[in-house]
Amino acid sequence: MKTIHLKTTARSIARAANIIKKGGLVAFPTETVYGLGGSAENAGSAKKIYAAKGRPSDNPLIIHVPHAEDAERYAVTSDLYYRLADAFCPGPLTMIMPKKDTVPYEVTGGLDTVAVRIPSHPVARLFLEKCGVAVAAPSANVSGSPSPTSARHVAKDMDGRIDAIIDGGECEIGLESTIVLLKDDRAVILRPGAVTEEMLSAVVPVSRDPSLLEKPSADFRPQAPGMKYRHYAPSSPLTLLRGPHGDAVEYMKAALKSDPSTGVICLSSDRNIIRGKNVVYLPDEPSGQARGLFSALRSFDDRGTPGILSVIPSRTGVGLAVCNRLVKAAGYDIRPVGITIPVIGLTGQSGAGKSTVSKVFAGFGGTVFDCDEIYHSLLYPGSPLSKAVIAAFPESDSDGVPDRKKLSAAVFSDRGRLELLNSITHGAVLDEVRAGIKRAEKAGASFAVVDASQLFEAGYDNECTAVIGVCAPYETRLGRIIARDGISAERAASRLENQHNEDYFRVYCDEIIENGGKDGDLSALTAQVRRIIEKYVGWLK
Ligand code: TXA
Ligand code: MG
Repeated sequence: MKTIHLKTTARSIARAANIIKKGGLVAFPTETVYGLGGSAENAGSAKKIYAAKGRPSDNPLIIHVPHAEDAERYAVTSDLYYRLADAFCPGPLTMIMPKKDTVPYEVTGGLDTVAVRIPSHPVARLFLEKCGVAVAAPSANVSGSPSPTSARHVAKDMDGRIDAIIDGGECEIGLESTIVLLKDDRAVILRPGAVTEEMLSAVVPVSRDPSLLEKPSADFRPQAPGMKYRHYAPSSPLTLLRGPHGDAVEYMKAALKSDPSTGVICLSSDRNIIRGKNVVYLPDEPSGQARGLFSALRSFDDRGTPGILSVIPSRTGVGLAVCNRLVKAAGYDIRPVGITIPVIGLTGQSGAGKSTVSKVFAGFGGTVFDCDEIYHSLLYPGSPLSKAVIAAFPESDSDGVPDRKKLSAAVFSDRGRLELLNSITHGAVLDEVRAGIKRAEKAGASFAVVDASQLFEAGYDNECTAVIGVCAPYETRLGRIIARDGISAERAASRLENQHNEDYFRVYCDEIIENGGKDGDLSALTAQVRRIIEKYVGWLK
């Protein structure tokens, strides 16, 4: 078959739409990645898509429509669907709902549900309008390889296998859409994307499939069938380095020294420290990383690298999607660097009981680092941290130490200044934590526990073997804060209001410890901590 290459003129798009109507296949640009489209009402088109991709036919396709209401013809919609569509569509969100008979089982991989997406890319929209039928489209790559973010990528995988490719340039987002299952009153994230937990949870309650970052166990079936297959993999093996960024960079430099053809993925800010012919730099900020990731992975295909090493970005916001693709592309091959004992990160809302949980971990032999305590220990008159904070916030100076209340006032309702303060303090506290863990490791500690309410904000998650969220019901937390800090119910409530909601921790943490039981009764906590230690530390003292 000869694949025709089309421009984005109205005439070319009309021609492409005709191919779809006649049962052919067309690759088209979307804001996420390129899709490989065929009519969603035609079982024969679906079969051709699976054949062209070499994709297992139990892995369902997403159907694309130009307007939210167009889903009515294909899916049993709901109030939840329209709430999310109003907020995020057209855009990089796919919603899974019960299917109607108009969608053949060939499209849904035999499932009774269908995935619907309304892309925002102007070429995709015009194309879908012209087709007049929903277009079933997986990403336009050969099954298992990174999704295509340019027409060149598509041509490399699909030339000769499909009827046409519309060349719409580079994809703006670069990672596939966020997939949510609409379940009861909740959006369950099956695949993370550019519509983030923070964005979704401003509209609806959010949770996630357990398999986003973790290798599914033999008996576990991810709810999106596609997540169980090897995915996004470059042609040479990819290994992710977990640990302090400086240690990861040192490790890469050593690897390059012993074999200069090693592939390396690091950050733009490392450019002055690490160089080489197979070194690829991703932007420091997450949306740039999303845009560049697949292209970076594909760029190694022709270099003959024996293996690729990559840093792991922090996982909040769109970072979760970047980490999810990296972890799958690496086939879960994650190597600790710098620190070799397991590091358990503990975070959660105030009053949830992190300190109590860390005591239970200590009882099992963990060396605990309390970031709040470390922060205060670093603030004495004339200390380096005191000087740095006072230099940035002169109004907080109180005899050579920044005054807490004045600092709070300075950053209150000023995001920019809060971020400045955080970047100063988080860096100093984490350096202390890292040095402490290295000392503990030398002294023979079996594992470390880092108690940090700002763990994600500090970007420390990618240094942890596992991040554990401690959760407790609102009333319980409120009661604990009032009792602990001796403040009014009103003040305690306003303190809780300014924190992330519980869904945030349930989505971003690897594990949750439920700490809603009676204070002082540690048996339920002990059982949960024991399970986590067995899973991530591997043995018990
Ligand atoms: O951004 C995107 O979503 C791109 C562009 C082209 O729209 N499409 C895309 O499709 O990434 P694909 O086929 O590569 O990924 C679809 C994922 C698969 O993991 C599949 O298992 C899951 O969606 N999926 C589709 N229908 C489903 C359903 N009914 N239930 C659960 N998962 C479903
Ligand atoms: Mg795909």
